[in-house]
Amino acid sequence: MNASDPAVVDLIDTSPVASVVSDPRLPDNPIIACNQPFMDLTGYDESEIVGRNCRFLAGPGTEPWLTETIRQGVRERKPVMVEILNYKKDGTPFRNAVVVAPIFDDDGELSYFFGSQVELAEDAQGPSLTRRIRAAEKIKDLSKRQLEVLQMVASGLRNKQIAWELGLSEKTIKMHRGIAMEKLGAQSSAEMIRLAVEAGI
Ligand SMILES: Cc1cc2nc3c(=O)[nH]c(=O)nc-3n(C[C@H](O)[C@H](O)[C@H](O)COP(=O)(O)O)c2cc1C
Repeated sequence: MNASDPAVVDLIDTSPVASVVSDPRLPDNPIIACNQPFMDLTGYDESEIVGRNCRFLAGPGTEPWLTETIRQGVRERKPVMVEILNYKKDGTPFRNAVVVAPIFDDDGELSYFFGSQVELAEDAQGPSLTRRIRAAEKIKDLSKRQLEVLQMVASGLRNKQIAWELGLSEKTIKMHRGIAMEKLGAQSSAEMIRLAVEAGI
């Protein structure tokens, strides 16, 4: 972990899923924080990750059209998920189910991008399908309001903006968000965002 904004640390620190945060206000949108599972997955040290654009995971076999999907999500500030061929530090290729999503500040300005990486087994279809189904099933337990809040969290909005958009108090949003997190069995906002994108909501 390496970031001055506690909100960033909070987003990915407790997540068991490999995650990074980048700062689009800096030249070339470099990673400003990563968690331990990201280092375990990729084999890079924090010092080799922070300050660089996440394109170091790409390599000769990376599908250019999938990279373009990520680029487009970044450009349009929309969450995306692709299953792209990436490479670890030692050159081992792996199928990466990556989610990239924008995070806005309280004034609605883009402040960060969140990225989360899951290694899939190479025999493909199976694991990602299982993850999608599991995510969709978990989300079914949410009330209409909790689902609404989850959708807004996944599109990068903070509590204050969600409260404003739904005409509710921030306290109420925090409550819905807390219950949704518990029902989903998510330990961090990062996991919640990932689940929402996996379920395709
Ligand atoms: C937060 C974040 C996480 C990203 N994670 C990945 C990733 O895991 N794998 C990947 O191939 N690209 C990832 N990207 C995309 C690359 O950073 C980069 O935009 C892409 O490879 C296009 O490279 P280019 O700018 O050289 O065209 C991520 C981007 C962001 C903003």
